[in-house]
Amino acid sequence: MRTHYCGLIDEALIGQTVTLCGWVNKIRLQAHVAFVDLRDHEGLAQVVIDRDNPAAFAIAGELGYEYCVRVTGTIRPRVSVNDKLKTGTVELLADTVEVLNAAKDLPFALHENPNEDLRMTYRYLDLRRPEMQAMMRKRIKLVQALRRYLDARGFQDVETPILTKATPEGARDYLVPSRVHPGQFYALPQSPQLFKQILMVAGFDRYYQIARCFRDEDLRADRQPEFTQLDLEFAFVEEKDVQDFVEELIRHVFREVQSVELDAAFPRMTWMEAMRRFGSDKPDLRIALELVDVADAVKHVEFKVFAEPANDPAGRVAALRVPGGSTLSRKDIDGLAEYAARYGAKGLAWLKVEDLAKGRDGINSPVAKFLDDAALDGVLKATGAQSGDIVFFGAGAWKTVSDFMGALRLKLGKDRGLVADSWKPLWVTDFPMFEYDAEAQRFVALHHPFTAPKVDDAAQLRADPHNAVSRGYDMVLNGNEIGGGSIRIHRPEMQSTVFELLGIGAEEAEMKFGFLLKALKFGAPPHGGLAFGIDRIAALMAGTESIRDVIAFPKTTSAQDLMTDAPSPIAAAQLKELHVRVATDGEAAG
Ligand code: AMO
Ligand code: AMP
Repeated sequence: MRTHYCGLIDEALIGQTVTLCGWVNKIRLQAHVAFVDLRDHEGLAQVVIDRDNPAAFAIAGELGYEYCVRVTGTIRPRVSVNDKLKTGTVELLADTVEVLNAAKDLPFALHENPNEDLRMTYRYLDLRRPEMQAMMRKRIKLVQALRRYLDARGFQDVETPILTKATPEGARDYLVPSRVHPGQFYALPQSPQLFKQILMVAGFDRYYQIARCFRDEDLRADRQPEFTQLDLEFAFVEEKDVQDFVEELIRHVFREVQSVELDAAFPRMTWMEAMRRFGSDKPDLRIALELVDVADAVKHVEFKVFAEPANDPAGRVAALRVPGGSTLSRKDIDGLAEYAARYGAKGLAWLKVEDLAKGRDGINSPVAKFLDDAALDGVLKATGAQSGDIVFFGAGAWKTVSDFMGALRLKLGKDRGLVADSWKPLWVTDFPMFEYDAEAQRFVALHHPFTAPKVDDAAQLRADPHNAVSRGYDMVLNGNEIGGGSIRIHRPEMQSTVFELLGIGAEEAEMKFGFLLKALKFGAPPHGGLAFGIDRIAALMAGTESIRDVIAFPKTTSAQDLMTDAPSPIAAAQLKELHVRVATDGEAAG
């Protein structure tokens, strides 16, 4: 139908007859001539339709935005060159113009920033926008680069089932009712975790898959109910083997897709250090602010807000120094306290150092009166505060303080322009094996239940599960968890012990994971791996905050597809066939 792409015509074609196809991006209709910007996925071309070509000129008069057209004509130099346009030195003088398809009035102008619901409903129009095309191309290039790298290194791409048994990754499952087995359900995989482990038992040695994962969880900008992982698994490896390999992989794709050279060796940080210094297990190292523990300096004071957590092993008193922050107004500080409260802060004490040389007289703080000289001095020394700085304090339960002070650090970093324009990858390692869920009174796995503990021996793990450290690791980039993995449990006794510690009884373990336990009994090799969030990496590369921008057909934050209108009700006959009865209001499933 066409000889060239709109976005690729150039001076080499001057004098030649070409045919372009595309969409009407813009029309300027004048008395003697019409200018049409024609767009395809390569870019724009200016088409000129002269009045002395009456047939073509008549059609020009009928064109509307986003009409799909074909134009044949001659390429000629442009009188007024447009340097903003790749094709800005040439134009196409039309001989024939053909409307391939008309377009209705648009629900939004493509060059404006339309509202998200409209974008999702008319996703095909949204995706026509050049910025969306560019972001999607980033993703496509990323996936190509990943595949090429892995294919060249002997990784085997194996597909694993979508209709399967639950694979827990900490979210709810999406379930599919079985027609032929009344009352029974498949689960969509939260990840291919168990299948990839079983592929290692099966001797595949090195596996990868660009895998779709399904998780019914609360959605955010960086979370979708279905998303894509680059899933990897290796047999006969330890942490360093996996980490070195995937680090090189990530360096490679950033070089190839982004022309960015990442650090030669990513820094490694234990989970504990990350929480202490940054109040986060995915620290954004672009921000040069750090938390400092000041419990030692305030242990002895009478001010209970500080002294109680300072003396409690499960408590924390953390300080955050913000250079130059003494200019923050009361209103600013109140705003920050409100923000911290969303993350669980009961208050946000602060201290402005107006003049360090003046000692106590140079301090402006509602809590200074509660701090004796030793405490004040200790806090100033620990934080290294200088004249003109402000120091914020968080006190309370260790996890809560870490969370809200970590959130405050990010907010201050962003608000005060302290985020360096750079790429800051790191490894976070040595995660706790379990997190204690006080409400449910049981342990939950911090990674997933198949992650190996550092201790080799099941009895040792059983002896002190509270302090057990796992062989899990996350790759973090600019404050985003882009990948997570671990060395796995490869012996059945250890796997059974972990299930037991997680409160999964022998019978339940057998029912849910019997196939895994059985497979581990047949000479399962030591193995480990990792999965990257492809959507997250693509979003970072595309420079967008939302992974929805790099997913062709994403869901809204309430897990709907506004274009197809999914989810939607099902006809009674189909429900019957599936042996499913829908609980109506008041008759909710018990
Ligand atoms: P994990 O649950 O950490 O590990 O997932 C791996 C990576 O997938 C991305 N990710 C998501 N991206 C978009 N939307 C979501 N809802 C979402 N959830 C996770 C993140 C994350 O780092 N089976 C293990 C991996 C392993 O142990 O090998 C797993 O799935 O970038
Ligand atoms: P209060 O004793 O509650 O009046 O608080 C005295 C000061 O301590 C106020 O400036 C509060 O904002 C601050 N504060 C209270 N609770 C905390 C907390 N958990 N962490 C940090 N500061 C707090």
